[in-house]
Amino acid sequence: MPPWKCGEGVLGYRQFTSVLFAVGRGHLLWENCRVFHEQRIVVSAAEESLPLAIRELELDFGPEAKVEPIGPEMAVITAPGLTAQEVADRCEAAPLVFPRHLTVETALLDADADLDRIAEAALAAVRQADLPKSFALQVWVSGRSSYEFGPAAAFGAIAGELDAAGYTVAKSRRDHVLSCCLTPRGVLLGLNETRDSLSDWPGGGVRLSKGRDQISRAEFKLEEALGEFGLDLPKGGNALDLGAAPGGWTRILRGRGLRVWAVDPGDLDERLSRDGQIKHLKLTAGRFLRSNRTVFDVAVNDMRMDPKLSTELMVRAAEHLAPGALAIVTLKTGSREVLTTVQACLALLTGPYEVLHARQLRHNRHEITVVARRTDAPAAA
Ligand SMILES: C[S@@+](CC[C@H](N)C(=O)[O-])C[C@H]1O[C@@H](n2cnc3c(N)ncnc32)[C@H](O)[C@@H]1O
Repeated sequence: MPPWKCGEGVLGYRQFTSVLFAVGRGHLLWENCRVFHEQRIVVSAAEESLPLAIRELELDFGPEAKVEPIGPEMAVITAPGLTAQEVADRCEAAPLVFPRHLTVETALLDADADLDRIAEAALAAVRQADLPKSFALQVWVSGRSSYEFGPAAAFGAIAGELDAAGYTVAKSRRDHVLSCCLTPRGVLLGLNETRDSLSDWPGGGVRLSKGRDQISRAEFKLEEALGEFGLDLPKGGNALDLGAAPGGWTRILRGRGLRVWAVDPGDLDERLSRDGQIKHLKLTAGRFLRSNRTVFDVAVNDMRMDPKLSTELMVRAAEHLAPGALAIVTLKTGSREVLTTVQACLALLTGPYEVLHARQLRHNRHEITVVARRTDAPAAA
C-alpha cells in the first residue's frame, strides 16, 4: 500500500482512488486537505524480462526506491520526489534496457468496473490533470484478461465519454497520453507526457504489419528500432549488413536508397539477386573485415552469435565507418548473466561509438537492440 499522506494520516490507496485521482508531478488536493504523494510510476517490460527490469531499476535508483511487480509485465517504482521524467531520463542515459514503457498511475479501479465506470473515471482523471483538449488514448491488456470486454471496446467507451466532454483523442503522436491497462488486479489509468513514456505505443507493444515484400520476420526488429528511436538513415551511400541472410534488413536498407554490402555465409533470398546495388559477400564478418577497403555510412548487425564476440566485431567494424555513421546491433544475450553481459558489451562499444539507445524492443526475443554512432575518429580505409 503506497504511503498517501494527508496531514498526519496515511490513507489506503483504494479509499483514495474512489475520491480523487493522482495527477501531474506535484501535489493533490483532496477536499480541504493538501495531499502530497509519491508518483507511482508504472514500468512495462516483456513478461520474461520483468525481473531484469526490476533489478535494473533497483540497482540504478538505489535503496530509497521501492520497486514491486504489479502484474506479469508491469512493475511500479516509487521513491521520494521521483518523477516519470527522471525515470525516463535514466532509462535513456544509463541506459536501462528492459523498461520499455512508462506511465504514472492515476487511478486503479476494481476489476469488475464496467465500461461506463472506466470512462467516467478516465474523464475525471483528464479533468483533474487539466490536459489539453487533444491527447492520445492508449488501451491494452496486461496478462490473461478476465474482462468481458477487450481493449477496443474500452477505447471506444472512453473516447466516447471524452468526445462528449469536448476532448479529441488519437492513438498516438500527441504530447500527452492517457493510458488504460486492463490488468488482473484492476483497471489501471495512467497519465504521462509522451516524451517521458519511452514508447508511443500502448504499453510499448509496437504492432507492425507484415508487408507484401517482407523477406524475414527479422525485418520487424529493424523497423521497430527505426520507429521507436526516431532514427534517420542516410538518404544514400554505403551500408554494411553483417549477418544479412536471408536479407530482410538488406531489403529495408535498399528501400532507403543505400547500396548494401550483405555479409553472411548463408544465402540471400532470390528476390534480392537481381539488385545490382546489393553485393553479397558469402563470408563471415571477421573475414570480410580483414580484407574490406570500403567506408560505410551505416552498419547493421543482426548476427546470431555470442554477444561479446558480436560486439568485438562491431568494434573492428568501427574502423570501416565514416565519422558519425549510425550502427544498429542486436545482441543475443540469452538468459544467463544478462545484465552483466549487456553492461560489458555497452562498455566495449563506448569509445569507438557513442551509445545512443539500448533497449529490449517488442520484437526482440532474448536480445537487445543497441543504436550507436561512430565517434569522430577517421575510418581506416
Ligand atoms: C537472425 S539472422 C539475420 C536475419 C537478417 N537480419 C534478416 O533480416 O533477414 C542471423 C544471421 O547471422 C549469420 N551469422 C552468424 N554468424 C555469422 C558470422 N560470423 N558472420 C556473418 N554472418 C553470421 C547467420 O548465417 C544468419 O544468417
